[in-house]
Amino acid sequence: MFRKGGLEMKRVSLFRMVIMAVAAVVFSSGAGAVGEAKHPHPPVIERDGQVIQRGWTFTGVTGDYDKKVLQRGFKVYRESCSACHALEHMAFRSLAQPGGPFDVEECYGQSPADPERKTSDPALNKCVKAIAAEYLVPAGPDEFGSTVDEQGNPLTRPGKPSDPIPGPYQNENQARAANNGKAPPNLSLITEARHDGANYAYSLITGYPETLPQGLKPPAGLYYNPYFPGDVGGGWEGQKKDMPPGGFIGMAPPLVSEGQVAYDDGTEATIEQMTYDVVNFLQWGLPNRKWRPARKQDLPCWAIWPCSRSCSTGATGAFGAM
Ligand code: HEC
Repeated sequence: MFRKGGLEMKRVSLFRMVIMAVAAVVFSSGAGAVGEAKHPHPPVIERDGQVIQRGWTFTGVTGDYDKKVLQRGFKVYRESCSACHALEHMAFRSLAQPGGPFDVEECYGQSPADPERKTSDPALNKCVKAIAAEYLVPAGPDEFGSTVDEQGNPLTRPGKPSDPIPGPYQNENQARAANNGKAPPNLSLITEARHDGANYAYSLITGYPETLPQGLKPPAGLYYNPYFPGDVGGGWEGQKKDMPPGGFIGMAPPLVSEGQVAYDDGTEATIEQMTYDVVNFLQWGLPNRKWRPARKQDLPCWAIWPCSRSCSTGATGAFGAM
C-alpha cells in the first residue's frame, strides 16, 4: 500500500512539474510577445560594451516570426544591404517556404494540375517569381557554348525561383577591394556567428553615434561604433582609462534616415524599425535557427524531452533550403 501511494505521489508531482515547466515556458514567451507589442522600441538600452536587448517575437518555444516583418526585412536587405553583403546559399524560392515572408495566400501561384486551385509551392509563388525576375543571374552557355557576349561580358538572364539570390561581388578579393580592404561578411549566418547575434546586429546598426566622442579620430575609411569589438586605441587622443567602448568598423552607417526604405504597408520606416525588420529577416533565414517556431507536428516530440532539442534546432532554415 505504502509503496503504491509513494509511487502515485511521485507520479502526481512529476506531472505537476511538467505542467509547471510548460506553463513557465509558455508564459515567459507569451509575455515577451505582449511586451513586444507594447514596446516598439528597445525596452532596455545598455551601453559600455553591452548590447541593446531589443526583445524579439521569435524567442521562446512559442516564438514566431511576423510575415509582414519578414517581408519588410527582405526589402531592407535588398535596398540597403545587398549592394555590399551577400546572402549565401539562399534561393529566391526559400522566401516562400513555409513560414517565410512570401508564404502568404495573396502570393500563392496556380496549381499546374488544376488552374482553379492555388498552391503554396514556393517554386510557383507569384511574388517570388516577380522578385526573381527583377534580378539578372549568370546565364548558361548559349548555342555556341559561350558564357560571355561579344564584348566579353558574362551572359545574363532574368532570375527564376530556383536561382540563388545573387551576391554583389564575384569573389572575396573583389569584395575587399571595393570596401577599403574589409570584405563585407555574408549576412546569412551573421546573427549566429556573433554572440547574442540578433541583439548585436541591432545594436551595431542603430548604435553609430551622431557625434563622435571628443578626442576620437577614426582612421580613414573606418567608422566608430560603440558595439563593434576591438578598441579605439589607434584613434584616441585622451587618457587610456577614458577610452570609449567599441571599435572602428569598415562599414559606414547603412541606415541613416527615416524612410530610407519605402515601406508600402503603412509602417513608419524609422531607423529602429528598419533595423528590427532586417534583423528578423536574417534570424529567420538561419540554416539551423535556434528559435524556429514550434509546429503542431512537433508536439509529440516536445513531450519526449531528449528529442525536444532536435525539434527546436534541427530545422533547416531558408539559407540551407536551396
Ligand atoms: C557600402 C557597403 C555596405 C553596406 C550597404 C552594408 N554593409 Fe554591413 N558591412 C560592410 C563592411 C565593409 C563590413 C565589414 C566591416 C569590418 O570588418 O570592419 C560590414 C559588416 C557588417 C556586419 C558585421 C559586423 C561584425 O561583427 O563583423 C553586419 C552585421 C552588417 N555589416 C550588417 C549590415 C546590414 C544589416 C546592412 C543593411 C542594413 C549592411 N550591413 C549594409 C559594408 C556594408
